[in-house]
Amino acid sequence: MCGIVGYLGKKEKKEILLDGLQELEYRGYDSAGIAVIEGKKLNSFKAVGKLENLREKTKTFQTEGFGVSIGHTRWATHGKPTELNAHPHLGAYSYVVHNGIIENYQKLKKELQSEGVNFLSQTDTETIVHLFEKYHKQLNDPFAAFAQTIQRLEGAYATLLVSESAPDTIFFAKNGSPMLIGFDGDEIYFASSDTPIIGKAKEVYYLEDGEYGYAKSGTVKLYNNHGEKSFITQALSLDKILAQKEGYRFFMEKEIYEQSRVMGETMMGRVLDDRVDFEELDAAFFDGIHAIKICACGTSYHSALAASYLFERISKIRCNVEIASEFRYKEPLLTKDTLFITISQSGETADTLEALKMAKRAGLKSLSICNVDNSSIVRESDAAILTRAGIEKGVASTKAFATQTMVLWMLALHMGQHKQTVSQEVLNTEIAAMLQIPKALIVTDALHEKLHRLSKRYLHGHGFFFIGRDIFYPLALEGALKLKEISYLHAEGYPAGEMKHGPIALADSELFTVALMPKTMHYDKIKSNVEELSARDATILAISPEPFELADDFVQTAYDTHPMLEFFEMMVVTQLLALEISVRLGNDVDMPRNLAKSVTVE
Ligand code: F6R
Repeated sequence: MCGIVGYLGKKEKKEILLDGLQELEYRGYDSAGIAVIEGKKLNSFKAVGKLENLREKTKTFQTEGFGVSIGHTRWATHGKPTELNAHPHLGAYSYVVHNGIIENYQKLKKELQSEGVNFLSQTDTETIVHLFEKYHKQLNDPFAAFAQTIQRLEGAYATLLVSESAPDTIFFAKNGSPMLIGFDGDEIYFASSDTPIIGKAKEVYYLEDGEYGYAKSGTVKLYNNHGEKSFITQALSLDKILAQKEGYRFFMEKEIYEQSRVMGETMMGRVLDDRVDFEELDAAFFDGIHAIKICACGTSYHSALAASYLFERISKIRCNVEIASEFRYKEPLLTKDTLFITISQSGETADTLEALKMAKRAGLKSLSICNVDNSSIVRESDAAILTRAGIEKGVASTKAFATQTMVLWMLALHMGQHKQTVSQEVLNTEIAAMLQIPKALIVTDALHEKLHRLSKRYLHGHGFFFIGRDIFYPLALEGALKLKEISYLHAEGYPAGEMKHGPIALADSELFTVALMPKTMHYDKIKSNVEELSARDATILAISPEPFELADDFVQTAYDTHPMLEFFEMMVVTQLLALEISVRLGNDVDMPRNLAKSVTVE
């Protein structure tokens, strides 16, 4: 979720790093930092907030002559956006920057602490630099120490390390998070994506998973687990916007594809072997709570609605959901045994923020589920759970919805544990399903191609109904919202069982029905609802693991063992459908007309 830059050469390093980080700010930022070694002298600077704060802090600092340097811009996932948690992280004489997650960091941290290492930050990254120095002391060879360090890391990472023990060298490693090396003669650049080095490097090598090595004296030595490796560079593209999209046509498309990976971050350290834990919530957080009220807008409202089913079913607690702009003016009755939850991607939505302030004035305990640490809603709440989706650029929200829903499902289980409404057996089943979610979110070429082909049949008509039951009803609402936002076609989400109470009057061949037909939830009921529509000649696009004869079009899903697995898999299908229809209609997918990413007005 963060951005990395590195540079080895004779040019002014501070400017190269800061300019590079500026190019990565689109990925999100809450703090940034740089470390430079010139001669044998190590200098480092960090600042919380936007990059201009780091610029201000380094105003009088200048570099001269040959040196090595690394920089990082951070989007908080583990630990608050503070200076101590900002990268680069310092050991006794080395600095490290890192993107990704070190999954075994708690184990490594304990091991290092038991050997007397003092940790300054709450991050997983800091373990890398201490491990390096530990092995450096043992092996007295910086590269051997780095290689040994990499062997110990589990998870996804892209990392750069500089050390006074090898002041002319940048050590690098990549596994699961992107990293590339740029070349311009003797000048060597590192970055987590193309943008920081466009206009600087001429050639580039995109590191592969499992590769590591070092840059020194204008050359790069590359290794993997078979030993030293040769590599071939390629010319660097010159289009920055294209580079930011990392090969995808739109940010929304990139974000749909990212969902599988970010879900790992959402669950990290929270979904444990036999329970779900939130270090953000102290043990007494739910004491005295007998009901939940959730307020949110738009997509976040839809994840709230899905959660209301889960809270009542799993945690056996009354849960009621309201659109924030309605809640504000209805003179709601609020009782102090109610936990007030707000959900917001941006954390700045005016209606949601005002609803939260109202609840606080009424003395309610508040919890926010948010993607942006330090946002107004997070600051205003008693406690906050970050969704860890990383910055979302597409105006139509995708990965924010996925991660919100995941956090809410986890929270329902967590509350269930606390209130003892879930057995260990149920917990184990839910956790096993959770661990499969990243796989259920993978976009396969076959699926995307299928939606691309299908989309050409859905560019006209007099409207869409997305229908579903239970948690698939909020998913239907969300599918319809995605479609209307970016295709400008009329679409409605409806509870499948409610169609016969009025909307079925609209049914004819030009009414498109997207039917969410999960195998694990009321399949027969929704099947008969869809049959009623089909009998009135509505055009049916069925999404189901179970082949459905009456469907005009059919997308077969793979998961049929747990409703949430079906939910997330079907979510991806509806997102891709909206995307492909919008592309065919020639609309601006990432910036649909009349919409803004953050709605800070009433
Ligand atoms: C839809 C969308 C909006 C937002 C809504 C609330 O794709 O993005 O409906 O969900 O404006 O925004 P947040 O979640 O930032 O409070």
